[in-house]
Amino acid sequence: MIEEIMKEAEEKIKRAKNLDELNHVRVEFLGKKGKISMLMKRIKEIPSEERRKYGKAVNELKNNVEDLIREKLETLKNLEKLRMYESMWVDVSLPGAKRKTGHEHPVMRIWREMEEIFVSMGYEVVEGPEIEDTWHNFDALNTPEWHPARDEHDSFYFSDTSLLRTHTSPVQIRIMLSRKPPIAIISPGKVYRRDYDATHLPVFHQLEGLYVDKRVTVGHLKFTLGEFARRMFGEGSRVRLRPSFFPFTEPSFEVDVYLKGYGWLEILGAGMVDPEVFKNVGYDPEEWTGFAFGMGVDRVAMLKYGITDIRELVKNDARFLSSY
Ligand code: PHE
Repeated sequence: MIEEIMKEAEEKIKRAKNLDELNHVRVEFLGKKGKISMLMKRIKEIPSEERRKYGKAVNELKNNVEDLIREKLETLKNLEKLRMYESMWVDVSLPGAKRKTGHEHPVMRIWREMEEIFVSMGYEVVEGPEIEDTWHNFDALNTPEWHPARDEHDSFYFSDTSLLRTHTSPVQIRIMLSRKPPIAIISPGKVYRRDYDATHLPVFHQLEGLYVDKRVTVGHLKFTLGEFARRMFGEGSRVRLRPSFFPFTEPSFEVDVYLKGYGWLEILGAGMVDPEVFKNVGYDPEEWTGFAFGMGVDRVAMLKYGITDIRELVKNDARFLSSY
């Protein structure tokens, strides 16, 4: 009987796979109503001459089972610890998971590069409002009421006298009204026109430049834009001035940049500040001279990166944008 119980206990302890199972085994044999405890209780029924021997055997059985359980408990605890360590294990030598971060938009990148080039030549970056009045956007810039640029169809008007600026040139006016020459500023920013096709967006970016001082000539203008072209498009890039017309400059030019592999590309409007504009801001045109230029930032980005449809710039397709 005792031997059988010993064997059974041994077998069950061996099979216990975790602390819970082992505890069940303990209760089964050593609990208050456990098999071994029952044997202890039966000691009264044993004839007195055998009682001593019986008691000794049951005690031994109890000790043995307790020992086995204690041993197994150790083993299981160690195992559990190992399992826990295993689940916590990290391979610190693995390369980290790369997190996708944002990326400068190609237009913003060109904007920044343009600013850097002109700032290094001594120009100051200034800004003006995107909602303009017709005086700053047109009249002060010598663009009379009848000029086609003022047409309903080309501009976004809020009222007869208030509109989204159609170019950055009104910033020239604001700066000249608030300062005395010499002035060397660039004003980058958003401008708005009613256009939408492969080469025009209703919202695009311009960068305007204005230099006012004594005895400023077309030579200064050409040198400045030539220097800009070299820094923007690389050594060997040149500029060419073609006669043109803007109400606020006289003479006026379309400026082409020579790009290897492309030829001459028109990227700028420019000219010598019209005396009428100086009068509008209270400068004496006999004393002051100056040049101004304006270029499309998006256009330059397209040229530089070989983008053919301007609408790609505003689709916000991360795959497209991150390839620049
Ligand atoms: N404001 C003109 C435009 O938007 C560009 C320009 C700026 C031309 C300054 C000459 C001088 O087309």
